[in-house]
Amino acid sequence: MAIEPSERSDIAPFRVMEVFEAAERRAATGAEVVRLEVGQPLTAAPKGVIASAHQILDNDRLGYASTHGVVELREAISAHYADWYGLDIDPYRIIATVGASGGFTLAFLAAFDAGDRVALAIPGYPCYRNALDALGAQVVPLMTTLEDNFQPSIELLEQAHAEGALDGLVITSPSNPTGTMLDEATLAEILDWCDERGVKVVSDEIYHGLTYGAEAASALAYSDDVLVVNSFSKYFSMTGWRLGWLVVPENFVEPIVRFAANLLLGPQTLSQMAAVAAFECHEELRRHRVRYSHNRQILLDGLRAAGLDRLAPAEGAFYVYADISHVSDSSTTLCSQWLSELGIAATPGTDFDPYNGEKYVRFSFCGGTDSIERGVELLAAWHTSSSRGV
Ligand SMILES: Cc1ncc(COP(=O)(O)O)c(C=O)c1O
Repeated sequence: MAIEPSERSDIAPFRVMEVFEAAERRAATGAEVVRLEVGQPLTAAPKGVIASAHQILDNDRLGYASTHGVVELREAISAHYADWYGLDIDPYRIIATVGASGGFTLAFLAAFDAGDRVALAIPGYPCYRNALDALGAQVVPLMTTLEDNFQPSIELLEQAHAEGALDGLVITSPSNPTGTMLDEATLAEILDWCDERGVKVVSDEIYHGLTYGAEAASALAYSDDVLVVNSFSKYFSMTGWRLGWLVVPENFVEPIVRFAANLLLGPQTLSQMAAVAAFECHEELRRHRVRYSHNRQILLDGLRAAGLDRLAPAEGAFYVYADISHVSDSSTTLCSQWLSELGIAATPGTDFDPYNGEKYVRFSFCGGTDSIERGVELLAAWHTSSSRGV
């Protein structure tokens, strides 16, 4: 008898990767592609990490690591909290994970049961929704807008809670796809509100270190009763090393380590050992941020000049989320036109927002400055072309 995948296997795809693949196919034909769709740094891991990895490969057996994470790495992450945030975090509360993706999956497993109501901002990173769905939790969308900076507010939480008590909240500041941030006062207010109602908060802080005004505050500055997700993928420029971490309340450590032991056995030992050196590489990493900041300004100015002037403020991360509804009814159609006619790859908002995503496009500015300049040049020409000018 033919066997069928479980009902859970009907998980939604991560569509951003489909745009990435379409851009790759076009690039393979030799045609020009300006890559404004990718959410990963152009650069390799910091030099210190690469040098350390060579050393380790030559000298270490590289067996299984502790499922909790290599001690030296957890200590280095703890020191990072003291250095960046002035926080004293016991290394015991830190767990090494397979990127932020592995981190939030473990956090969701340990924090939520099937049927729990977990709120999150729309637009937002689609994999939270899809992972929560697969775990049987009920995703409660908080419909944010440009006017409220695409971030949750107490008002939105009150509304959602009135419809049925919330069990959880996922926050991301700076956010993907909007780059917007929760200011410190609102973050503190939201954490208080959740604390009073026993709502468990998962805070994805993967874009910390990539901000262009105020630095991002960690939820850990306001509460020890939160699950914080972070990663080496973005600021540390180490996407392919598949390494991240969780900081969790003490009583969550054992369950999460048990989940990790049963499901994954933790991230690669080589990545964990080499990543210790990343915390000595801030000078190199800050230079990447200078480039992002420069690219960001070129992109914001260029989009406005191309008639796309309803833009999320891009306070952090490396994305600009643009309202294109005055230009097209469908960001999916617009993005595929841009790819085939202009050679610009950008991401339609539909993945981040299943409700209003056809009105938005996400542009990424983590590529080379020359490609951002070329992108805005092509968009300016598109804008002035008589048939499609806005
Ligand atoms: C908000 C957010 N969280 C998590 C991830 C996944 O990151 P990682 O590579 O650490 O798994 C991404 C990747 O783009 C992201 O934007």
